[in-house]
Amino acid sequence: MQAKSISRRDFIKAAGIVLGGTALVGSGLTVLDAPQPVVTYPEYTFGEENMSKRILVTYASQAGSTAGVAEAIGKSLAEGGAQVDVLPMKNVNDLAPYQAVVAGSAIHGQQWLPEAMQFMRDHQSELSRKPFASFMVCITLSMANAGQYLEGVKGWMSPVRELVHPVSEGYFAGALDFSRLPFSFNVLAMRIAVLFGVWKEGDHRNWKAIRAWAESTRPLLLK
Ligand SMILES: Cc1cc2nc3c(=O)[nH]c(=O)nc-3n(C[C@H](O)[C@H](O)[C@H](O)COP(=O)(O)O)c2cc1C
Repeated sequence: MQAKSISRRDFIKAAGIVLGGTALVGSGLTVLDAPQPVVTYPEYTFGEENMSKRILVTYASQAGSTAGVAEAIGKSLAEGGAQVDVLPMKNVNDLAPYQAVVAGSAIHGQQWLPEAMQFMRDHQSELSRKPFASFMVCITLSMANAGQYLEGVKGWMSPVRELVHPVSEGYFAGALDFSRLPFSFNVLAMRIAVLFGVWKEGDHRNWKAIRAWAESTRPLLLK
């Protein structure tokens, strides 16, 4: 019987499967062992007290990068003379004091986080009566060829748009820091994507682009 020789291509494929499987099991076990990260979701008030121009910037975040984006948006909006409160969505009770609202979420599975969509449903009628702007923070926009994905990424805002039409929408690259994420199979999938070079771990937030969006949105909120 003739021995079957393995081609270079088959060898690389097999090695890839073995390495990928080992990495998957290895990283799964490593993160299962790791202590659960503690992430805090800060609140801020920026600007002078100004009851007639009060804006809420509210956010939903898991690992904290969206909180940082909300903070930068809040600071920029306050430079226009408004008082800006920045709050995690779960700490927002009443929208009545605010002339305008900006809401943003981290993206998981091509969607705003569930708590962010719940916020939209809970406050839909009040948000429809005020200037409202939305933003999202995701890793796809950190890719070198992000431009080609922008139209698809904008589609992820459709469920928000269907509830309340924003006067402006912000699309920002975020950050991936696995030390700030608890174990889940979705996080494991993200780790594998990083391992295969789809995305890079690290902070990809573009502060200039975030501030520029806030500055261009400010007059739409304060009109
Ligand atoms: C479980 C999980 C799923 C994610 N899904 C997506 C996704 O579908 N598309 C994307 O572009 N980014 C995705 N990301 C990346 C996050 O949107 C990005 O890291 C963001 O900056 C996280 O915000 P946070 O630090 O406020 O939680 C995902 C991240 C995690 C942890």
